[in-house]
Amino acid sequence: MCGIIGYTGSSQALPVLIQGIRLLSYRGYDSAGVSVWREGALHVRKDPGRIEDLAPSWDPDGLAGTTGIGHTRWATHGVPNRANAHPQQAGETTEDGGLVSLVHNGIVENDLALRETLEAEGVAFRSDTDTEILAHLFARAFQGDPVAAARVLLDRCRGQFAVAIQHRDLPDTLIAVRRGSPLLVGLGVRENLLASDLRPLVGRADRVMELGESEIVIVTPDAVHLFDASGAAIERETRAIDHTERDTGKDGYPHFMLKEMHEQPERLYELVAGRIDPEGRVLRMDDLGLTDEQWRSFERVDLVAAGTAFNACAYGAYLLESMARIPARALMAHEYESRDPVLDERVLVIAVSQSGETMDTKIALQVALDAGAATLAVLNVRESVIGRMAGGVLDMHAGPEIGVASTKAYTGMLCSLLLLALKASRARCIADAPIAEIAQALWALPDAVRTALERFDEAAAAAQDVRRADHMLYLGRGPDAATASEGALKMKEISYIHAEGHPAGEMKHGPIALVSREMPTVAIATAGPWRERMLGNVREVRAREGEIILVATDGDPDAAKLADFVLSVPATHPLVAPIVNAIPLQILAYETARRRGCDIDQPRNLAKTVTVQ
Ligand code: AGP
Repeated sequence: MCGIIGYTGSSQALPVLIQGIRLLSYRGYDSAGVSVWREGALHVRKDPGRIEDLAPSWDPDGLAGTTGIGHTRWATHGVPNRANAHPQQAGETTEDGGLVSLVHNGIVENDLALRETLEAEGVAFRSDTDTEILAHLFARAFQGDPVAAARVLLDRCRGQFAVAIQHRDLPDTLIAVRRGSPLLVGLGVRENLLASDLRPLVGRADRVMELGESEIVIVTPDAVHLFDASGAAIERETRAIDHTERDTGKDGYPHFMLKEMHEQPERLYELVAGRIDPEGRVLRMDDLGLTDEQWRSFERVDLVAAGTAFNACAYGAYLLESMARIPARALMAHEYESRDPVLDERVLVIAVSQSGETMDTKIALQVALDAGAATLAVLNVRESVIGRMAGGVLDMHAGPEIGVASTKAYTGMLCSLLLLALKASRARCIADAPIAEIAQALWALPDAVRTALERFDEAAAAAQDVRRADHMLYLGRGPDAATASEGALKMKEISYIHAEGHPAGEMKHGPIALVSREMPTVAIATAGPWRERMLGNVREVRAREGEIILVATDGDPDAAKLADFVLSVPATHPLVAPIVNAIPLQILAYETARRRGCDIDQPRNLAKTVTVQ
């Protein structure tokens, strides 16, 4: 959570910082702030709110200067208000007078003890944040050597953090230190930058370097000096930035979510075409670092993730068990460590994550690595924390996803896990695995998804109806139990309607008590072995006067008779269907949220990347 940007060079810092905050807002957006060095002082502006609303009030004259840091926040310690916004200052009491300005991503776990100690030493805190502790510690430790002062942060603070710091006495200098949370250094011509991810660096810096674990960096316009935790100077390779790596415009769409939904056919095509031929004879997966022999030796697969990625894991586990015949289970990453899972080299642990930065998923993966399990990550950002930890990476190739509600990354995850299950089936010589049929369906998938997107009006009509609902139920069976959970998650995330997703077989065991005229039920009953029983559940809901929104395959003879609204999708293989079935549920959530006037790309209380536990 939280985004950090820093700039030092020959240009004005403020526009670079504002643009950086804008590009990093997916990481949190409840407040933002900047600090710029000008005429011997650190000038800070910060407030709760979105950068679009705050930036116009930050006067360029008062903030004229060529070195500064900026921050976009997702609150962990203290409500979003001006005092708790970053930068936090230390050394003096006025906003334009601090000795130190500091921005932070992560959590200081021993904050209470440190706060008590500092208070006993006479420090008066002005915020509820753990970040202010870092600022005071740095200010008090600084005796002219920023590396020595930064080492104090590493020595005294527990937890995960990345910080960027300015000191009033170091005009053209940024100081950064990192443990756990990511931080990049962008190198340009007579200018250098710091950023939480690559986006703010693309188009500005030519090369990038990642700050390693427990490392310190001192950045000036002409130099970048790297130090390890002992204060010894170290060297690090840089890599050239590919200037196509950022794709941040809405391309005329009113929301990133809508744009990203429409990117799905193209993204899926790239993923499929890169991995499998239309007959399913060739499966290109050699880069994953798993041999056929390993696939044959695995006795279990644990898929770990959070949120949307967890829903994808439920689908992946279903495929690996039913098709590739490996016992497989999807587990919420945040629950993994506490169950002390039985792990060794015969278990494959697959971490699934769009960002590759989710702390819960990272910790689950570390548990697997520590126990000697084989590991693989299904990611959208290969160059990420999880990407560097895992034994192999399957890149879902969804491209940058900015909307907080995951859409193209979800279908990218499903498609990646399906390809993986095909690979596992082949490696394990499962004679009846329908590899050729699924390969054929995968090559037809981009068109099926495109067609589903063209049926926008069907879901929009249903949205017009459900927009007044307070509660919704989503039901699916087999691999579409995951679709039901994901549909419900999309709805609650962006429209704030309480929505529950359940395997339909669970209905009679409790959830059916909720059914009423006021509670619409979305049922996924596309062609396949589960359709008949799904329609049985639909009838049960109807018998209790519940409204039905039915996801059905084109030409379904019963759909119109049983449903108040039909969301039709093209026919495909039943195991591929969950990828297509996700589309009308994305549209339904989007159109409902739009009608309810919700902030679709930045829903309340959420952040795109959850880098705290
Ligand atoms: C999905 O719409 C959400 N943004 C959220 O559930 C997300 O999937 C979850 O936080 C995991 O993120 P990751 O894929 O980046 O690990």
